[in-house]
Parts: sequence; C-alpha cells; structure tokens
Amino acid sequence: MQPVTAPFPASRPRRLRRTGAIRDLVRETRLATGDLIWPLFVRDGEGIEEPVASLPGVSRLSIDRLVDAAATARDLGIPAICLFPYTDPALKTETCEEAWNPDNLSNRAIRAIKKAVPEIAVMTDIALDPYNANGHDGIVRDGVIVNDETVEALVRMALAQAEAGADILGPSDMMDGRIGAMRAALEEAGHNDISILSYSAKFASGFYGPFRDAVGASGALKGDKSTYQIDPANADEAMRMIARDLAEGADMVMVKPGMPYLDICRRAKDRFGAPTFAYQVSGEYAMIEGAARQGWIDGDKVMMESLLAFKRAGCDGILTYFAPRAARMLAETRQ
Ligand code: PBG
Repeated sequence: MQPVTAPFPASRPRRLRRTGAIRDLVRETRLATGDLIWPLFVRDGEGIEEPVASLPGVSRLSIDRLVDAAATARDLGIPAICLFPYTDPALKTETCEEAWNPDNLSNRAIRAIKKAVPEIAVMTDIALDPYNANGHDGIVRDGVIVNDETVEALVRMALAQAEAGADILGPSDMMDGRIGAMRAALEEAGHNDISILSYSAKFASGFYGPFRDAVGASGALKGDKSTYQIDPANADEAMRMIARDLAEGADMVMVKPGMPYLDICRRAKDRFGAPTFAYQVSGEYAMIEGAARQGWIDGDKVMMESLLAFKRAGCDGILTYFAPRAARMLAETRQ
C-alpha cells in the first residue's frame, strides 16, 4: 500500500482508458455479427406481420415474410435463424402428431427458406409445446409428463425437420435420453451431417412468459415445467446435464435464460470447451425493450452491453431477438 502522502498514484490504469483508440487496442472481448442467431416466429397466412404484445418490435410472420427476414439476416451477415411456429389451436392434441407432420408449418417454413436463402443456417426447436393441447414440452398421462414416450415423439419430430432441410436441431424439451436417441436415429436415416445444439442447461424460468404468448402456449399450459426444466438454484446439475448431452452426441450446448445465468455460461465454457451458446430469452428482451420504450434506459447501449456480457462470460454466440438491430449497429460502428 502506498502511504496516503505519496506524491503520485503507484499505478495509473486510466492511461489505457484515455482515448477510444487505446481502449480499442486493449479491449478483451468483442461482439461480432457472426455470433448471432435470430429467433423468429412463424404463422399461417400470407403477407402477415402480427405484432406480439409482450415482445415489442417482434412479430409473427407468415412464411413469405419469414423468407424476407431470412434474406435480411443473410444480408446483415447473421449466420443463423431459429424458427418457432405459432400453431393453429385446432391442430393441437394430447398426442401431438402435428409435431412430426412433414408438412407442418415449421417444416414448410424450413423448405421455403432453404430454397430461397440457402446460405443461412436454419435452426429448429424440438419440443412438443407448440402442438400439445396442454402446453407442455412432453406428453402428459394422468397429469405426469412421460419421458420415454415423449422421446419417441421428439425423435420423429427431429427426423421430419432433418428431412425438411434443417441445419441445426435444437432440442429444448429437457427429457432424459433424447440427444442419444435423436443422434442414433439421424445416423440411421443418413443424416449424419446435421448438428445438434442442445438446450442442455435450460432452467425452469419465469423469463419465458412473452415467448409462450408468441407461440400461443400460455393459455394452454397447466401447471409449470419444473418436473423437467432445471431448478434455478442448481449450477452443478446444469454441468451434469451438459456433460451428459455432449456424451450423447450434442455438437453444441446452450444455457437458457442468459443474463441471470452468466455464471453457468462461464463454468460450462471453462469445463467443457464446447461451442457454448446463451439464449437471451423473451423476458430479458421484454425488460430491456420495455424500459427503453419508457425512456428509462438507453435501449441501444443496454442491448450492446448485454450481448457483450455473454461473450465475456465465455459464450461463442447468442440467440437474441435483438439480432438484426445489433447487426445494424455493429455495421455502423465499423464505418
Ligand atoms: C419451448 C421453448 C421455450 C423457449 C424456447 N423453446 C419456452 C418454454 O420452455 O416454456 C423460450 C424462449 C424465450 O423465452 O424466448 N420448449
């Protein structure tokens, strides 16, 4: 310790914060457009952009508009989009057959995008909630979410998505054994080159609320998802889930939600060194965008800071509804 009477500070870290150029030189982490995956909601119809009330600035798009969005993503340099279908309530059943219908909304959307914008990587979501009469990710029997029967349904769903041309499958259901079962079925069907980005560390979170509105699952959901999603209190358990999914054949892993779980991101990256993604989920987006629209925070600044934080925490990439806005800001600041 310097005595308080010292004539000058022992160190002057402010030297490296003095100008933009010097700060740029010593910056430890960077966000790039190539880090972003853009989640998009698809619905039936044509020429439709239907705003989602709890996700200001986000809309459900008909397939033609979705293809336009995919082209926008490509033009901005966003490498991947992730599709979520808003399913007609009349197609939802207790047994969820629509999930593996080769011509369901999601599979039609995948085909349309791969035809019009083949450069973009299409990621899917694998879980039964958009097709389930009771809103759960798994099949419910006598009030219980049954694991193995659900895994069979998820495997059929994965195969249908692979056939439709998906590049990355995203199992978000949290059933046991699904990654191994899907990987084996994909290999057997000749889809050995399709990657799996597993939602391995998916917590039973309140931050998914606006998403459930967007896909029309909130009204149907009876109870909560805490018999399959991880308790927000558990970090060791999240590590065990990631280890298991990698051992079963996942190529990449995800932590979800994002901002309240940066400790999980860091531990996962340090421990496994696998491609690690965070999902900045709907409730996180809604908090930032809602406050920004009220004028309470600087939306652009908070958006970029929140995305950079994922990179600092060790993530390779981020699923975020801010993807096109962040890509535009990154392009502007490069000029
Ligand atoms: C479906 C799924 C959910 C999200 C992605 N896939 C919701 C849930 O598990 O209830 C949430 C994404 C978001 O909130 O943005 N299983």
